[in-house]
Amino acid sequence: MAQIIDGKAISAQIREEMKQEVVRLKEQGICPGLAVIIVGEDPASKVYVRNKKKACEEIGIYSVVHELSEQTSEEELLALVRQLNGDERINGILVQLPLPKHLNSDLIINNISPNKDVDAFHPFNVGKIMIGDYDFLPCTPAGVMELIERSGVDVNGKNCVVVGRSNIVGKPQAMLLLQKNGTVTICHSRTKNLAEICRSADILVAAVGKEAIITADMVKEGAVVIDVGMNRNAEGKLCGDVDFAAVEKKASFITPVPGGVGPMTITMLLKNTLKAATLKK
Ligand code: GUN
Repeated sequence: MAQIIDGKAISAQIREEMKQEVVRLKEQGICPGLAVIIVGEDPASKVYVRNKKKACEEIGIYSVVHELSEQTSEEELLALVRQLNGDERINGILVQLPLPKHLNSDLIINNISPNKDVDAFHPFNVGKIMIGDYDFLPCTPAGVMELIERSGVDVNGKNCVVVGRSNIVGKPQAMLLLQKNGTVTICHSRTKNLAEICRSADILVAAVGKEAIITADMVKEGAVVIDVGMNRNAEGKLCGDVDFAAVEKKASFITPVPGGVGPMTITMLLKNTLKAATLKK
């Protein structure tokens, strides 16, 4: 039976550490600040943004939420981003995705100052991650690495399989595992022998967005299984990409959904915001 990796507890521990760091920064006259921009009324995005603001308040980070109407033009949004780029109280800028269809997310992200890009979505920061010389890591993959490391799992020399190749999770996740000397395979919708490749994994990261796509027959006995999925099942309940009940019996470590990777994402955003506050501009 697998040991459950408790993302909520690990997250609480890291936030406690960061609270102390905020106190130290404020003693040096540095007050970390985060600006979050949300455009439109997407209910899930509104919940995420509310949670981000609450998390900032809990550890003493100054935060501002800019709620813009669905009809906001690209020029208006760009003007706000540029204003925040020049705002000394703001160290981190996060534009909540997805944006309404008439807005070009790439264009908006490319206009966030790279040293305030706490999502690490700007191509400059994406490139820095590729080289291994970075200030910010994207929040979800960084959270996964914390969960793995704080569970005492050593990535060095392990077979790591990442299922999913998104720019937000799969691709950067593979780079971070590679940096820790994992032997990394990325699988995706066109992968031919998915089950077989997954069975070779010592560390399996599922980031697909499909309920229970990772079944027990795809998991090696004793593997570490990290579930990044956030799906709703037929009853509307939150569930991951992994068939948890069955895989739990084979894995050595497993993250639950909810309570695994989810809580870590905001924690890593807070960490990036503190990092941004200490960067020389
Ligand atoms: N929407 C869903 N996840 C994220 C994230 O990590 N960052 C931003 N900006 N938007 C998101």
